Amino acid sequence: MTASGTTAEGRMELAGAQPVIAVRDLTVTLDTEAGPVPLLRGVSLDVMPSEVLGVVGESGAGKSMLGNAITGLLDRRVSVTGGAVLFRGRPIDGLRGEAMRRLRGRAIATVFQDPLTSLNPVFTIGRQLTETIGEHLGLSGATARAEAVSLLAQVGIPAPEARLSSYPHEFSGGMRQRVVIALALAGRPAILIADEPTTALDVSIQGQIIELLRDVCASRGTAMLLITHDMGVIAALATRVAVLYAGRVVEVGPVEEVLRRPRHPYTRGLMDSIPEIGRRLGRLHQIPGAMPRPDTLPPGCPYAPRCPRAAATCADAVPALQGHGPHQAACFLPLEASAAA
Ligand SMILES: Nc1ncnc2c1ncn2[C@@H]1O[C@H](COP(=O)(O)OP(=O)(O)O)[C@@H](O)[C@H]1O
Ligand SMILES: [Mg+2]
Repeated sequence: MTASGTTAEGRMELAGAQPVIAVRDLTVTLDTEAGPVPLLRGVSLDVMPSEVLGVVGESGAGKSMLGNAITGLLDRRVSVTGGAVLFRGRPIDGLRGEAMRRLRGRAIATVFQDPLTSLNPVFTIGRQLTETIGEHLGLSGATARAEAVSLLAQVGIPAPEARLSSYPHEFSGGMRQRVVIALALAGRPAILIADEPTTALDVSIQGQIIELLRDVCASRGTAMLLITHDMGVIAALATRVAVLYAGRVVEVGPVEEVLRRPRHPYTRGLMDSIPEIGRRLGRLHQIPGAMPRPDTLPPGCPYAPRCPRAAATCADAVPALQGHGPHQAACFLPLEASAAA
């Protein structure tokens, strides 16, 4: 700790007030022959140090697009056309070359749905780990090897020393995802972007990987942006949650509050469709209809055509996020107003 703790900036740091990642009014646009189509429309989010921010929504909501915009993995036809992504307060969109490589993959590391896409089938786990450790930390030889063993042990791989010489196909799906998490941790990242990290896994081991992610992030103080379609995963792992619908954040807040008292009818619809929660509340059902495609958005609130509460006003204008304090929803007729209708 330094004497700068007395300056305004120092106090902010001590309070941990600086987000690791700040997404500010981000618009991401797809270039089509018929013209530009916005896929994300003015998304703003903060991921604070050590927190797990969940991003949830149905397929096509823009969750992966958000993760990819942060990690810079956008398709050629897709670009950031508005707003910014900041890493510890500094815009990262303009970074190129070495500066970008240091940030993305190292300080900002990723875990994807399918562990096989992150692993090279022709190299041993040991080689992939020691190479990544070399790149990120400048370690080599026995030191890199010892770090690789330590990482494998931290992610719960039994007999880690012996497993260094195994190839990806020699591991089960769950063990492979553990290896991917070890690789992501190799650069001692400030944040993990985990996009559906348990979706491709056997249901019986999803819980173990969720626990592992929670434990490694907590013990290392690593923040996480957790992307999932599954409210159950959010409930198990996230500290705050942002609900995405048709490229916008429609509700955001502390997980317990949002799950206990959702304000946006879409959030409640998502909750009702999870077997564990929906059955308990006696209203297990799927949300009727489908999310509009980005190129055919209805006027007004994009959820209105599916919303059981929609009134005439909902088709006229797009509601902005609002609420007192950290729990906010973008709805003209939020649930809270009528006591959990
Ligand atoms: N590379 C791409 N080119 C064109 N459209 C895309 C591309 N990736 C995603 N989209 C579209 O962007 C929207 C959001 O997709 P995505 O972020 O993958 O959703 P999610 O991860 O929430 O399921 C969808 O309508 C999808 O069809
Ligand atoms: Mg996705």
